[in-house]
Amino acid sequence: MNRNDAPKTPATFHVKSFGCQMNVYDGERMAEMLGTQGMTVAADGSEADLVILNTCHIREKAVDKVYSDIGRLTREDGTRPMIAVAGCVAQAEGSEIQRRARSVDIVVGPQAYHRLPDLIDKAGRGEDAVDTDMPLASKFGALPARTKQARPTAFLTIMEGCDKFCTYCVVPYTRGAEISRSWSAIIDEAKALVDGGVREITLLGQNVNAWTGEDDKGRKQGMDGLARELARIPDLKRIRYTTSHPNDMSDGLIAAHGDEPKLMPFLHLPVQSGNNRILKAMNRSHSAESYLRIIERVREMRPDIALSGDFIVGFPGETDAEFEDTLKIVEQARYAQCYSFKYSPRPGTPAADMDHQIPAAVMDDRLARLQALINRHQVEFNSATVGRTTDILLERKGRYPGQVIGKSPWLQSVVVTAPELSIGDMVEVDIISAGPNSLAGEISRRKAA
Ligand code: 5AD
Ligand code: SF4
Repeated sequence: MNRNDAPKTPATFHVKSFGCQMNVYDGERMAEMLGTQGMTVAADGSEADLVILNTCHIREKAVDKVYSDIGRLTREDGTRPMIAVAGCVAQAEGSEIQRRARSVDIVVGPQAYHRLPDLIDKAGRGEDAVDTDMPLASKFGALPARTKQARPTAFLTIMEGCDKFCTYCVVPYTRGAEISRSWSAIIDEAKALVDGGVREITLLGQNVNAWTGEDDKGRKQGMDGLARELARIPDLKRIRYTTSHPNDMSDGLIAAHGDEPKLMPFLHLPVQSGNNRILKAMNRSHSAESYLRIIERVREMRPDIALSGDFIVGFPGETDAEFEDTLKIVEQARYAQCYSFKYSPRPGTPAADMDHQIPAAVMDDRLARLQALINRHQVEFNSATVGRTTDILLERKGRYPGQVIGKSPWLQSVVVTAPELSIGDMVEVDIISAGPNSLAGEISRRKAA
């Protein structure tokens, strides 16, 4: 392997995260850890001594993109940074990555990245630096504490992995079994984030609502109890969570949406398909009806809740009529926003070997029809907020001078022109207009409803 051109002791780094929010969180923790080792973020990513590609394996294109990104890291003069491939592709492919892309110095899985400093040293010495262990002891205990944050919103991973084994999904293999972090570790991290300026925390997990643990008095708790405890942190204003599984939507969590004001009225609850035969083949262990019943109960508690979902079109064997059931459930559920994907066979998953894989053209057509419907509902949802007065948390500057962009409780971006306001402020705005992807607001003279 030719590693001659890569720096031996990197001083600057750049982390590029792909895929889900858990990867974004992992990328931030890696960056904070390298910071405590004395390394600094490269001003220009292309000049970094070390580039970490924090990869996603959920769909085909994501993997191809990693290999083309690795290729692009070699500069015109033939030099290149030290290259680390982290995340789920690293876990799934292991040292195969170095066979396919010889410039890769480090391969590190999502449960082993606390060992990055060691791996960087090894790579610098030209030694083998592949670590895809899933150690029993949590990596979280080995990571440095959270520090001052640049933004008023933060992610906090509270559980990892998945025991559900949906037949299309690679996550149980790349992220491992469901493991919940401890109550005290989560509360401590949340407090550190809030002390560092954070006002909104999004709790993360592949099945975040499957979180279980014991509180400081030894009582068994679920994610609802955890959210209620976090809500007691005075300067924490908003709590969100994602992604949830329908089967883990407990009565307690549904109730919390009714009476915990800091729990935002937004629920990402994937159903994947509206057809019961397909749901069974996907091993989802819920039906279209049981799913609709859950969202009905959540809406009883919190009528204005914004619902979000994930869909897969073209699962092996999906007929036109079965796909129509997906359009039907979208009509019934009325999502504020959704993610929808063409089925992508993942090596090693049961669905990849199923008969009747669906031709690409059929998938394209189904995806276009589904997305047109979802977009229509998204526009309708956004339009329905025009005329409302609501709180927004200002997250970043807008494109034009004096503009700031905040999020509504329903996770919509709201643009306000208010030069006197600062990022991190919570302000009341009147929503004056709506587009498909954002709203415009004015500082309110009324009281929020
Ligand atoms: N093909 C297409 N979409 C997938 N997802 C997971 N696995 C696949 C796959 N093999 C989608 C699901 C999941 C989201 C994170 O990605 O909708 O909820
Ligand atoms: Fe994948 Fe299903 Fe687990 Fe979600 S619940 S991570 S789709 S296996």
